[in-house]
Amino acid sequence: MNRKEFVKNTGLAAATLAILPAGELFASAADTKIKIAMIGVGLRGQNHLDLVLRRNDVELVAICDIDDRMLTRAKEMITKSGKKMPQIFTGDIYAWKKMLEIKAGIDGIIIATPWEWHKEMIIGSIEAGIKYIGSEVMIGITLQDHWDVVKAAEKYKAHVMMLENVCYRRDVMAVLNMVRQGLFGEMIHLQGGYQHDLRDVKFNDGTKAYGGGCEIGDKAWSEARWRTHHSIHRNGDLYPTHGIGPIAHCININRGNRFVNLASFSTKARGLHQHIIKKCGPDHPNAKISFKLGDVVTTSIGCANGETILLQHDTNLPRPYSLGFRVQGTEGLWMDLNKGIYIEGKSTKPHQWDEAKVWLDKYDHPLWAKWSKEAQGSGHGGMDFYVIHSFVESIKRNAPTAMDVYDAAAWSAITPLSEMSIEKGNETIEFPDFTGGQWMYRKPVFALNDEY
Ligand SMILES: NC(=O)c1ccc[n+]([C@@H]2O[C@H](COP(=O)([O-])OP(=O)(O)OC[C@H]3O[C@@H](n4cnc5c(N)ncnc54)[C@H](O)[C@@H]3O)[C@@H](O)[C@H]2O)c1
Repeated sequence: MNRKEFVKNTGLAAATLAILPAGELFASAADTKIKIAMIGVGLRGQNHLDLVLRRNDVELVAICDIDDRMLTRAKEMITKSGKKMPQIFTGDIYAWKKMLEIKAGIDGIIIATPWEWHKEMIIGSIEAGIKYIGSEVMIGITLQDHWDVVKAAEKYKAHVMMLENVCYRRDVMAVLNMVRQGLFGEMIHLQGGYQHDLRDVKFNDGTKAYGGGCEIGDKAWSEARWRTHHSIHRNGDLYPTHGIGPIAHCININRGNRFVNLASFSTKARGLHQHIIKKCGPDHPNAKISFKLGDVVTTSIGCANGETILLQHDTNLPRPYSLGFRVQGTEGLWMDLNKGIYIEGKSTKPHQWDEAKVWLDKYDHPLWAKWSKEAQGSGHGGMDFYVIHSFVESIKRNAPTAMDVYDAAAWSAITPLSEMSIEKGNETIEFPDFTGGQWMYRKPVFALNDEY
């Protein structure tokens, strides 16, 4: 069989992959409490903390942060939960290294710190002997960072899961279910992105997390302390994973398919500067900042199996939130923005959208059918529950995580690759194969049953 035939067959096999009943693919969970530690209990870390505290199969053994306000909020949450106060590490930016040595032992670690810390904290955790690392989105800054994380995970046989929650969004999972049952036919083109007006996230008044001022860095709080600097110094798709994660599952990236090449284009940068002028006036010191990040960055990716992907990063301009998904095959497509699905021969009328909800309800993923009660009240419409649930259940079973280091590297590396492409005048850049050829043999594992 030549490579083309192999890839085609793998794609077709995966397209017809049905949902298997729970228990057929994974061994049953051990009846033990696992020990979890956390680095970073900022606003995102507190979401994860809430989910960890709700579970009776997890003992929170240690937390680390360097911001007293964040730590106070985290401690209040722990006290309110009635759970035992974990060991607390703070005081300097390397306090987390001491935490990794605690005698209680750590089965899994959750990292929710600024992007520039992720690589060092993931590798530090791996080298300290921790076998399960759940890192918030982006696992590094440079392309080399991504290779370093992959190589460390391979060397120490550690599981690195990027906690990409959008993969668990209810509509996204229903669409994945439909893709796997072949309703859209063979996959052809997919779109997604991060289209979120972050102006009040990138600037605040130092007391509130969102807006109220134009401060960044030391004078700001939460993400405006660090995230905005990436918009000053970098131009690329700085946040690809919410868009690419769900798409990657639909076309079995790293499992019979892979990203082959990429090219990015960026617009001029106007939104952040204008925001400062409008909110705080031309005399505000930050009105002098020159932002490198183009307001809209568009990236095209080619895949080994012949699909194309379009990703958009749009965080500096006024706009309502949308991830802009489109999943299109030979038989029809889903688009999230118009809440529409069309399937030839099955939709109510030719050339007219069906209301997506009817299809999404019918093909609700078994994970949502089973766990939606537990997911209620957790962040981002319930999807945050699933990502932590999946991480914890993998640890309990001593099993590979549903999204692994190769997924994390491929999705997160879009950022440095898009920066390179823009830097080189929109040149098409070859996408590295982090699996070292294993993508041809690896099988889909994400959300194959209703367990986790
Ligand atoms: N998946 C999602 O939906 C989602 C949503 C928000 C944020 N995030 C991601 O979560 C991560 C954290 O974002 P956030 O919103 O919580 O930011 P944040 O600024 O609110 O929190 C970051 C925390 O890390 C702490 N920190 C920084 N350096 C540290 C160090 N050396 N040691 C220990 N703690 C340190 C900070 O004090 C802060 O409390 C980022 O990767 C972000 O992109 C993901």
